[in-house]
Amino acid sequence: MDEIVSLCRRRGFIFGSSEIYGGINGFWDYGPLGTELKRNLKNAWWEDMVLRERSGPDGKPIDIVGVDCTIIMNPKVWVASGHVGGFNDPMVDCRESKLRYRADHLLALGAVEPNARIHVFVENDADSLARAEKALVKYEKRDSLDSVRHLVRPFTALSAEERARAVGPDAKEVGTLTEPRQFNLMFETYVGAIRDEDSRAYLRPETAQGIFANFQNVLDSTRVRVPFGIAQIGKAFRNEVTPRNFTFRSREFEQAEIEFFIHPATAGEWYAYWRNERYRWWQSIGLAGDNLTLREHDRDELAHYAKEGAGCCDVEYRFPFTAPGFGELEGVAHRSDFDLRQHAEHSGRRDKMKYFDQERSERYFPHVIEPSGGMDRGTLALLCEAYTPDPSRPSGVFMKFDPRMAPVKAGIFPLVNKDGMPEMAEALSRRLRKRWPVEFDPKQSIGKRYARMDEAGTPYCFTIDGDSLRDQTVTVRHRDTQAQERIGVDGVEAWLAERLGA
Ligand code: GAP
Repeated sequence: MDEIVSLCRRRGFIFGSSEIYGGINGFWDYGPLGTELKRNLKNAWWEDMVLRERSGPDGKPIDIVGVDCTIIMNPKVWVASGHVGGFNDPMVDCRESKLRYRADHLLALGAVEPNARIHVFVENDADSLARAEKALVKYEKRDSLDSVRHLVRPFTALSAEERARAVGPDAKEVGTLTEPRQFNLMFETYVGAIRDEDSRAYLRPETAQGIFANFQNVLDSTRVRVPFGIAQIGKAFRNEVTPRNFTFRSREFEQAEIEFFIHPATAGEWYAYWRNERYRWWQSIGLAGDNLTLREHDRDELAHYAKEGAGCCDVEYRFPFTAPGFGELEGVAHRSDFDLRQHAEHSGRRDKMKYFDQERSERYFPHVIEPSGGMDRGTLALLCEAYTPDPSRPSGVFMKFDPRMAPVKAGIFPLVNKDGMPEMAEALSRRLRKRWPVEFDPKQSIGKRYARMDEAGTPYCFTIDGDSLRDQTVTVRHRDTQAQERIGVDGVEAWLAERLGA
């Protein structure tokens, strides 16, 4: 992971936010290459989910329309959605290391004997586990871990007496971890000149509620009828207790969500449709291997709105920092009619917010299937999947992005900067630039230019050489195989369009 983070910085995929002032924990900026990569991901989502024609499980075309709602909404929205009362994470502080942890992310490794030390580590963090195991072996004065009888339990399952003999993940003394305390994750702000209870507002912790709050507006202003979806891509904010693992857990991030409104009796089939559709979509943009998985939630994991639903699952990716485990990219949940009912109740509109189904001659609150994906986690998964070490190349590595996701689609080089080659290369570059992001690069040796493009993940490079002026051909170099072929310069645009699917 350190190598990926370093390449991201060096080549301008991702930087720490406001780094010149020492940065700010949990906030990240995208550089020129990262911005294009993330835009490609968001555009692909919008094109495939909202614009492209396709059929649902009922065989009829799927209707999805978009909205773009504000980040700050009337604070009553967040009372109705349950976020003011319940969007909490349990937080634990360490008095020795001064670090803060999510209590539900901590596990305890402890000898079963009473009075023995218990060593606490962070879930899915191999270094933290290794430290806890080493400390346990040392403390028990054994040769190896095999000889230490131990149990792994959630930290939250420890009694007060056991917590008193627990050593924190980054501590040496026992008993320095505080009791778990509830902490609301919403960022607060004030609207207008006066800062008081009445002007308090929140930065949205999910984009979904803007969609629910506009359900009636969309119905009244368009021709959509149940079943249909409303989609939105936008920023969300959570004051995460422990932002970590690069952009995976950030405090400002982007979500791509669909709230798909259905008749309650059809929840099972639409849930299955969206679960498969969303898994297939992540595969289609280049996460097709073993690193992608689909995991149904256990009953005790279900969110408050999904308890009695048709189901809830996560599309997960095996990130280097979660391996051999997986981390969530997207959740697909049957949210029942929880949100619409809550907003109907809290806004005082009650039955007026019910949907009238003309075909069924029935008035009801539609149920919702919600695919909710993270665009920053998606971008991070694309980066991790693309990262391919290759000692035979000058760059030592290349980024194997799916061409649709690649930030730069082609590099265009004059072999040398004379004899009309730069002019011909520039003319080709100008032509291609009308359709795609391409890079004209006349500097340094051809090997170094290929190396730069390999690190950027550019799938094709076109070189104009001495022969090009005579026979109007160029050399194409393929990123993944490094194979080269010769094609006519007039055919480059069509050749590229075929391979980029555009
Ligand atoms: N509306 C439902 C909802 O917000 P969620 O599972 O809390 O569900 C959906 O979030 C997605 O948003 C996650 O699968 C993840 O990709 C992304 N996400 C959530 N918290 C995040 C964070 N702190 N940093 C980056 N992405 C996050």
